[in-house]
Amino acid sequence: MDKLLIEGGARLAGEVAISGAKNAALPILCAALLTREPLTLTNVPRLNDIGTLLGLIGQMGVRIEREGDRVTLDASALDNPVAPYELVKTMRASILVLGPLVARCGEARVSLPGGCAIGARPVDQHIKGLQAMGAEVAVEHGYVHAVARRLKGARLFTDMVTVTGTENLMMAACLADGETVIENAAREPEVVDLANCLVAMGANISGAGTDVIRIRGVERLHGATHRVMPDRIETGTYLCAVAATGGEARLTGTSACYLDAVVDKLMDAGCEIVSERDAIHIKAPARLDAVNLRTSPYPAFPTDMQAQFMALNAIARGTAVIRETIFENRFMHAVELQRLGADIGIDGNTAVVRGVDRLQGATVMATDLRASASLVIAGLVAEDETVIERIYHLDRGYERLEAKLLALGARVRRIVQRVD
Ligand code: EPZ
Repeated sequence: MDKLLIEGGARLAGEVAISGAKNAALPILCAALLTREPLTLTNVPRLNDIGTLLGLIGQMGVRIEREGDRVTLDASALDNPVAPYELVKTMRASILVLGPLVARCGEARVSLPGGCAIGARPVDQHIKGLQAMGAEVAVEHGYVHAVARRLKGARLFTDMVTVTGTENLMMAACLADGETVIENAAREPEVVDLANCLVAMGANISGAGTDVIRIRGVERLHGATHRVMPDRIETGTYLCAVAATGGEARLTGTSACYLDAVVDKLMDAGCEIVSERDAIHIKAPARLDAVNLRTSPYPAFPTDMQAQFMALNAIARGTAVIRETIFENRFMHAVELQRLGADIGIDGNTAVVRGVDRLQGATVMATDLRASASLVIAGLVAEDETVIERIYHLDRGYERLEAKLLALGARVRRIVQRVD
């Protein structure tokens, strides 16, 4: 397995281009299943998760053309509404094919995604919503088997805010008979980007971005061309990397408008941030002030930025309290940061981080995507050398990570481990 070797101490400076959003591209790729006409997407990030989903959709009979960040999907010959365990287990967001397959084919057999490092991550709300729309759903032998000649519009209420749950049900409702109202809907920008793409395909959707989304079903959707929004979590991650090193940089192809909570915290920590139309400029102080945070659904502080801020707080001035309210096990980066010398106490879903003057390089292990990013940020400021193992987690969500960090002046290189 590849490793990342980081020589700490470089102050990041310069310019970095942000890629398309992984968590917008994944549901939008699944939206292609809803129509017989080609869907063309641009600004699709080149990530392992995207490749995995394209492989899953391709084995269903969908023709895929990919050139750089442009992907065209033609689902006219879709003939295998099955998502097998071997593919789904490597990428839980595969559950996003469930709603589109039931809506388009009247049937779907999708492997349960299973949990992952950060939590059990059940999909009961996805199933409950499809049942409310008239689908017969059985969960057997590790698969969700859903059947519905045609889904019927319904009033849906999710027990908690669920991003992919909202996305799955919104896609399913596009072809249902009648109106569907999703109450307690997720407000994330990626939900809005998906809705914008679906509307371009002829769907009738209003309220995306609020907690009540109305979808009036139509007979069929048509093809479209859609540009995927910028990745706000990649944006936040690079803002944190520059902030941790006391650097100054300009992030292009992105916007601060989806990151108010994160930008606020970085400014509280002492950074100067200027938002431009299609870029963000950040200038960090020599040392950050510790900032408390509590993760919540959008527009509050995103759980996907919690690990990165724990790394910032590890070397900040003062003590920070971090509360993780979305996932039950999303502090695994803490023990790895402690190996680098961080002073962190964990009590349930609360972490108390006492800033230290310096971190020391060490060998650490990545456990999940955003935890890996946290270790990269810590490695950038730790003295001497940090080796991060299992960086396949990083490759799932950060396009050309080394190249982008090198362009900002980081001393980083990938050690490719031949697996014989
Ligand atoms: C999406 O995951 C993102 N993934 C996650 O990003 C992100 O952390 C998460 O939303 C929260 O913002 C994609 O969009 C592909 P949820 P999702 O359903 O949809 C519980 C990353 O790093 N729940 O909003 O799976 C669930 O267990 C990834 O890019 C149920 O109990 O998250 C969690 O505690 C990590 N039953 C909470 O709700 C359900 O049916 C929120 O989960 C669904 C969810």
